[in-house]
Amino acid sequence: MKTLSIRRPDDWHLHLRDGGVLAGVIGDTSRHFGRAIIMPNLVPPVVTTEDAKAYRERIMAAVPAGDRFEPLMTLYLTEHTQADDVEEGKKSGLITAVKLYPAGATTNSHGGVRDLDKVMPVLERMAKIGLTLCVHGEVTTPEVDIFDREAVFIEEKLEVIRRRLPDLKVTMEHVTTKEGVDYILGADRNLAGSITTHHLIINRNDILVGGIRPHYYCLPVAKREHHRQALRKAATSGDARFFLGTDSAPHVDPLKECACGCAGIYTSINTMSCLAHVFEEENALERLEAFTSLNGPAWYGLPANDEMMTLEKREEAVVYPSKIDTEAGLITVFDPKFPLHWAVR
Ligand code: NCD
Ligand code: ZN
Repeated sequence: MKTLSIRRPDDWHLHLRDGGVLAGVIGDTSRHFGRAIIMPNLVPPVVTTEDAKAYRERIMAAVPAGDRFEPLMTLYLTEHTQADDVEEGKKSGLITAVKLYPAGATTNSHGGVRDLDKVMPVLERMAKIGLTLCVHGEVTTPEVDIFDREAVFIEEKLEVIRRRLPDLKVTMEHVTTKEGVDYILGADRNLAGSITTHHLIINRNDILVGGIRPHYYCLPVAKREHHRQALRKAATSGDARFFLGTDSAPHVDPLKECACGCAGIYTSINTMSCLAHVFEEENALERLEAFTSLNGPAWYGLPANDEMMTLEKREEAVVYPSKIDTEAGLITVFDPKFPLHWAVR
């Protein structure tokens, strides 16, 4: 049997939600991941340090007994965010990053940022105190085609922020395009990118061919095949600027399977099996650890986890449930459409 031992991984972009969904999904993360950056797009969002403290307590209360898991909290940036509150959050050790959602870009982002000028004082303070800005990099201008929104964001917004604040550390989250990869590769400092599991596996055909497939719909939406190839190359390259952020984003089935389905794909449960498959396919198994367990902590200035994880390749396929059952309802699990032979021991 082929085995692979790596440092215990972390997830640098995760949606855990709250209440029944939180209770239903947290174990799928805490089983495999030491830490995760927790997205703040609840309803209402996690805006202040006090909100983040209360949310962290709800998460910790939901972690299954015996699992060691540390949620790394983020604040949802609004045009009313106070720089002093952000600084206090960082100083107290509670806040790992601040999240910028352009207003209207994705699920629960209506309270996000419309005018970047209005958040400049907060971003300036973050640059000064060394707090990372996590960015959902899509413009929301109705005229811009949804498949171009990431590339246009880089040109029109991200480049402007980075020019104005070269000392600000920016994580371009869930990069989905070759333009995104190239932009990160071209930056000499203070820019890194997270890549999801599913964007390494699906392209836009998976959403649209043969009928509309809501469980492959997420934001940023999966792009053309050459973008997927660019993402695979970046993720498996070992380049320290790329790391895993699953963007696992659970929605109960009725909210996905309807006339206006929510964006989000649930991958926490089978991410490590999927990634081992992808890295083996790319002849890069020896670089899986960099992507899942080393590059992320290094970027966020944290040590890698002490514990190890062993993956083993089994003769028989590992079977994951097609749906998980939560108090809030059923949530469909990401189907990579190939058998998974790598299992977490
Ligand atoms: C996320 C969600 O559901 O909260 N959805 C998604 O498709 N990724 C929001 C986000 O990260 O864009
Ligand atoms: Zn997300």
